[in-house]
Amino acid sequence: MIVLGIETSCDETAAAIVTDAREIRADVVLSQLDDHTPYGGVVPEIAARAHLEHLDGLIRRAMAESGLGFADLDAVAATGGPGLIGGVIVGVMTAKAIAAARGLPFVAVNHLEGHALTARLTDNVPFPYLLLLVSGGHCQLLVVEGVGRYRRLGTTIDDAVGEAFDKTAKLLGLGYPGGPLLEKAAALATNPGRFDLPRPMVGRPGCDFSFSGLKTAVRRHVEELGTPLSAEDRADLAAAFQNTVAEVMADRCARAMRQFKEMHPQGGALVVAGGVAANRTLRARLQTLADREGMPFVAPPLRLCTDNAAMIAWAGIERLRLGQTDPLDFAPRPRWPL
Ligand code: KG4
Ligand code: ZN
Repeated sequence: MIVLGIETSCDETAAAIVTDAREIRADVVLSQLDDHTPYGGVVPEIAARAHLEHLDGLIRRAMAESGLGFADLDAVAATGGPGLIGGVIVGVMTAKAIAAARGLPFVAVNHLEGHALTARLTDNVPFPYLLLLVSGGHCQLLVVEGVGRYRRLGTTIDDAVGEAFDKTAKLLGLGYPGGPLLEKAAALATNPGRFDLPRPMVGRPGCDFSFSGLKTAVRRHVEELGTPLSAEDRADLAAAFQNTVAEVMADRCARAMRQFKEMHPQGGALVVAGGVAANRTLRARLQTLADREGMPFVAPPLRLCTDNAAMIAWAGIERLRLGQTDPLDFAPRPRWPL
């Protein structure tokens, strides 16, 4: 089975071709970073127009890279939500047009399911597994029992973790996109233990997250230090923030692991997915935790953690294998919980 995947839910325009033998034949991503940087964040209208302008060319590039033709495709999958609706409409309409023109099945993929199932594309991880889904819009601990079968153990009660990275980076004067820039700044810290930040939720029962207090604590330090921050202050604060986030994540995951083991005594892996899963400090902290708990740890390669279309094509394949497709009148969804 060969599937074309399309991703347009945020600020990355992406197309990929993936086979059911877990082979990525092509995977092209066009970041709109330069279009949004002057505004310090993603502007939905600009994003939608950029997707419209670039998607056709990207699909052609993916087809050329794969060495395949449209006649070789078995289906077309596109992110059907959740996301910025203008972009989602562009991706879904394009996928539907190709499906209609070629007489192919169409699959509308939940973007979160794309992230959630990536570890099965890269590492063939069997169900069930415990998933830490950490992106710009989400921060959840889920038990993945099967395709479309997700049990939520915890979620954020305020900001998503990627959002916390982005907002904190802004406070530190690091610009946009915050996550990768904050990680870079933290790597330059000379005294990462200099600032003691609160660890929201640590030690509390349950598996929920909270990040707004942490962000406020960083703001207070910034105000005390005075802006613009020196490079040294900035690096030390970035490192303190990043280490605290990793500690909070590890505490929440440790609790979720206990619940997971009660539900599934036969075991399973700890999987991390979503844009923030690209963070090396977080990955290392989770690896240590998983080793201690005797659970395999799976983190997809960095480029498949942030938004991409290979994960959408793969989630489409998982759904097609179960005989699930969507009608051509599928309506794109701005909100779509897993
Ligand atoms: O999954 P994703 O690409 O898009 C969404 O579905 O939200 O995640 C984007 C988020 C952004 O908040 C970005 O700052 C964060 O992931 N991110 C990172 C890193 N790379 C991306 N956060 C921390 N460290 C990184 N290296
Ligand atoms: Zn995402």
